[in-house]
Amino acid sequence: MEYRRLGNSGLKVSEFSFGAWVTFGSQVEDKTALECMKAAYDAGVNFFDNAEVYAGGRAETVMGNIFKKMGWDRTGYVVSSKVFWGGKLPNQKGLSRKHIMEACDAALKRLQVDYLDLYFCHRPDPETPIEETVRAMTDLIHQGKVLYWGTSEWSAESIKDAYNIARKYMLIPPTMEQPEYNLLHKDKVETEFASLYKEIGLGLTIWSPLASGVLTGKYNNGIPKDSRLNQPSLSWLKDSLSGEEGEKRINKVKRLGVLASDIGIPLNHLALAWCLSNENVSSVILGASNAGQLKDNLKALDNKKAINNEILQKIKEIIGN
Ligand SMILES: NC(=O)c1ccc[n+]([C@@H]2O[C@H](COP(=O)([O-])OP(=O)(O)OC[C@H]3O[C@@H](n4cnc5c(N)ncnc54)[C@H](OP(=O)(O)O)[C@@H]3O)[C@@H](O)[C@H]2O)c1
Repeated sequence: MEYRRLGNSGLKVSEFSFGAWVTFGSQVEDKTALECMKAAYDAGVNFFDNAEVYAGGRAETVMGNIFKKMGWDRTGYVVSSKVFWGGKLPNQKGLSRKHIMEACDAALKRLQVDYLDLYFCHRPDPETPIEETVRAMTDLIHQGKVLYWGTSEWSAESIKDAYNIARKYMLIPPTMEQPEYNLLHKDKVETEFASLYKEIGLGLTIWSPLASGVLTGKYNNGIPKDSRLNQPSLSWLKDSLSGEEGEKRINKVKRLGVLASDIGIPLNHLALAWCLSNENVSSVILGASNAGQLKDNLKALDNKKAINNEILQKIKEIIGN
């Protein structure tokens, strides 16, 4: 495992990290969650990703219990949470000062830690002035409850606004962004954000590197019963594979599968190693519904070198610019 700087900050995150979305507190039992966290940690993963909305807070509770049980040195790992979707009442969601402060305290309790290393604004909030959010995040950092803050799925323009406001009022600017990035979804990271890496030193912790499992090839011939896309609450994900667009996606996955087998590596390794080949990515957040999947994905590190310029070109020809 190698460790990369989170943007231009001094913090080092493992190139592969592990996240709790869909799985912890819902799809998988606590025992499986523990096996996955242990497999990740033993392989050198030092960053674990979470959010207030995952399983309505249960994902953080499960992760907090695992931290406590394993007794890992707090200085050895980085843990994140995200604020935006809390409860149903008007002030239980969004990026107001009130919700940010209350959500952070709740996440700390559930995760049973004294501070969050990373705290993300899970989506932009058009009903809260960005300055209010920047001030609240700055205050959390001054209170020692958060070390670094960032955004998730914000536009480049909003990230720049937050940065400029912070600089103007001597507040703390966002350090990182958490966007979706994979072989089927790459434009935001490669085009829209292109100027931000140098201009403001933005680091990326990217999500759904396997497009929810699609890039393992497991959906090439229909939807397996015990898979994520078969969960009723995730019908929107299933929709992404239906119709003409869905067919196009699966065709790309099949062609990528042929390329992977031509170079003698599994498709999931090709997909994950491709994410790592982008130097603006600080950490690729893996997801898994069992430890076997996670261990298999971690082995993609052995195939990083397979993604040379010639293969990158062939990949480009398949996925388009
Ligand atoms: N900021 C955001 O808005 C946001 C959004 C989404 C995710 N995230 C973060 O990113 C993390 C990773 O995202 P993700 O879970 O969508 O990642 P992903 O790697 O795209 O999908 C993971 C899922 O794919 C399947 N899978 C993974 N490896 C496999 C293998 N080797 N063989 C067969 N199936 C395999 C598993 O689902 P099944 O076994 O159920 O098929 C697994 O749960 C999340 O946990 C979360 O921390 C952030």
